[in-house]
Amino acid sequence: MRLFAFILIVAVIAVSTSRAQQQTAEQRFKNIQIFKGLPATQLEPTMAFISGSLGVRCNYCHVANQFDKDEKPTKLAARRMIQMVFNINKGNFNGQGAVSCYTCHRGKPAPVSVPLVGQNLWAPSSPSPSPAPLPSVKQILDRYELFFDVRTGLLVRRYTESETLLGKLPLQTDYEDYRDVGGIKQPFLIHWSMPGRTWGRKIDEIKQNVPLDDTKFNPPQK
Ligand code: HEC
Ligand code: HEC
Repeated sequence: MRLFAFILIVAVIAVSTSRAQQQTAEQRFKNIQIFKGLPATQLEPTMAFISGSLGVRCNYCHVANQFDKDEKPTKLAARRMIQMVFNINKGNFNGQGAVSCYTCHRGKPAPVSVPLVGQNLWAPSSPSPSPAPLPSVKQILDRYELFFDVRTGLLVRRYTESETLLGKLPLQTDYEDYRDVGGIKQPFLIHWSMPGRTWGRKIDEIKQNVPLDDTKFNPPQK
């Protein structure tokens, strides 16, 4: 019955997302100065992108549960930085997201401006490289960012990148604890990870082809 609940939750989220998509960030939130016109549903992934790029948590810029407050100087700095990134991309890279927070910050609040000593200065003379061999099956699969267990052949990881206003936000999904469900191997432990965040779901029971009443997919009454 747990899967029942799980499917229902997914359905409800899907319905509420399609309704919410028409809302802009400034309609949904209280103090939007930069992200005006951004679909409201895009705000959270963009915030996750910023946090991951700086290697910080939400409270680095926000007062707990009062995200609209402008009390922390870091939030004000971030507003200037977001504007700067827009300007850099607009003025120099045809508006494409060539430069993002991560370009400079590399997972740290304070970027490093002084280059390391000794980089690229000296390298031992090495024999000329042989021509590149053809890619292996593994290399080809790596490009599709799906990872399989070499012994069992089961999918153990999936890696995707989704667009945010500021850059690509990576998401890694790990599948564990495969068990046989009516002749099909299904993972009972799933972990999702993105920069600075990880969460998971442990499944107790999976039933296949359970008849579902269509009315269960109706949006909840307000
Ligand atoms: C480096 C600073 C920084 C971090 C870290 C950060 N934010 Fe933000 N956040 C901002 C800025 C700047 C704005 C205002 C954007 C604007 O003015 O358009 C904002 C706005 C918001 C808003 C809208 C609030 C309102 O009512 O106006 C929410 C919600 C929010 N952030 C959630 C989060 C969450 C959740 C996290 C952690 C995953 C997070 N933020 C991490 C800088 C940050
Ligand atoms: C071109 C390089 C560059 C990019 C891109 C960049 N930053 Fe920065 N950021 C800096 C530098 C340099 C500093 C330190 C400034 C100083 O020390 O006065 C800084 C400082 C900050 C601070 C203040 C840290 C503190 O300790 O007070 C925040 C917050 C911040 N950046 C957020 C962002 C966010 C969010 C983005 C993406 C929207 C971003 N930055 C993109 C270079 C960059």
